[in-house]
Amino acid sequence: MKKAFVTGATGQDGSYLIELLLEKGYEVHGLIRRSSTFNTSRIDHVYQDPHEKKLHFYLHYGDLSDTGNIRKLIFDIQPDEVYHLGAQSHVRVSFDIPEYTADITGLGALRILEAIKDFEKSHDKKIRFYQASSSEMFGSTPPPQNEKTSFHPRSPYGCAKVFAYHTTVNYREAYNMFAVNGVLFNHESERRGETFVTRKITRGIARILAGLDKKLYLGNLNARRDWGYAKEYMEAAWMMLQQDKPDDYVIGTGETHSVKEFVQAAFKHAGISDWKKYVEIDPRYYRPTEVDSLIADPSKARKKLKWKPKTTFDSLVRLMVEEDLRVYSPNIKEA
Ligand code: NAP
Ligand code: GDD
Repeated sequence: MKKAFVTGATGQDGSYLIELLLEKGYEVHGLIRRSSTFNTSRIDHVYQDPHEKKLHFYLHYGDLSDTGNIRKLIFDIQPDEVYHLGAQSHVRVSFDIPEYTADITGLGALRILEAIKDFEKSHDKKIRFYQASSSEMFGSTPPPQNEKTSFHPRSPYGCAKVFAYHTTVNYREAYNMFAVNGVLFNHESERRGETFVTRKITRGIARILAGLDKKLYLGNLNARRDWGYAKEYMEAAWMMLQQDKPDDYVIGTGETHSVKEFVQAAFKHAGISDWKKYVEIDPRYYRPTEVDSLIADPSKARKKLKWKPKTTFDSLVRLMVEEDLRVYSPNIKEA
């Protein structure tokens, strides 16, 4: 039985990856932060389904700032694969807490790579490492963006991810480690954090229809993103660690839409044509520097991993709207 260690186990991607690894028969170890409130809502169902055969799923308290703890976990668990998804992942927030973001999102990767390097020196075992790199690293470099595109990050988050990206490549080259970067473009789902724009929109619409909110306050509607479905992106992450040789891959759909287009499509799925009545611009959601346009060129992943996206933009918007309407449906008033 293969063993995997997943950081960011309680996040959107962590939850899909853990489901996938358990389905494939892995023993899965997740890193979880101590919190004063429950923070396992995305993975609770993995414990709860009584129809599942016994799953080998374990959670360990820790924090990416804590070198000793990370090191201990790598040495104790002795995983075959490490999926490093944990991060301060919010771009706007990274302008408010840049040092913390550099520590967790940047140095966090270094701490894990160092622990793996030292483990491999003293044990007769190799550990494969996946770094959750980001299209945010391309920043202001014009699209389409692929593995050869240069980086020009536009946020403390983007800068931290560039550091982690290059550190991953450096450890691969310097210590012959199986360390890869998955450069993933924006991926969303019904489990997306509520403050990222797609989920903020679909949840906001459901709350308006339920009579809980009157308006949806947003920032820059002109930014363009390449949005895909998170579950499929975690399949790509797993595939990267199953290759014969370590390499870096761009994952995205190759299609771009503006935030405004997402808003229009989401309101339409909820049966509202006049979205402008409900949306207000609040400059507090603007960023000091913005990433204007992202479009993936995922041809390398299509060719080498045989990975391609299945969920279209419209289906993604619909599934997110439907799920938020279902969550808030007890409160939805008769039209
Ligand atoms: P997410 O939902 O924000 O999850 C982030 C995870 O990191 C959570 O489990 C969080 O724990 C954990 N975390 C945060 N700070 C930590 C710390 N100090 N110590 C330990 N764990 C910590 O993010 P996601 O969307 O799943 O993304 C997963 C990874 O992919 C991130 O590295 C992100 O930067 C990267 N990425 C995401 C996208 C995307 O579009 N989703 C695209 C490219 C790259 P709590 O639950 O306790 O907060
Ligand atoms: N969050 C947010 N809230 N974004 C808004 C809002 C708002 O009210 N209004 C407009 N936007 C715009 C942002 O300015 C940005 O251009 C776009 O919507 C997308 O914002 P987010 O959903 O916060 O995502 P992101 O692109 O900044 O970052 C996400 O994708 C990256 C990959 O490119 C995150 O998941 C990162 O962790 C990830 O690396």
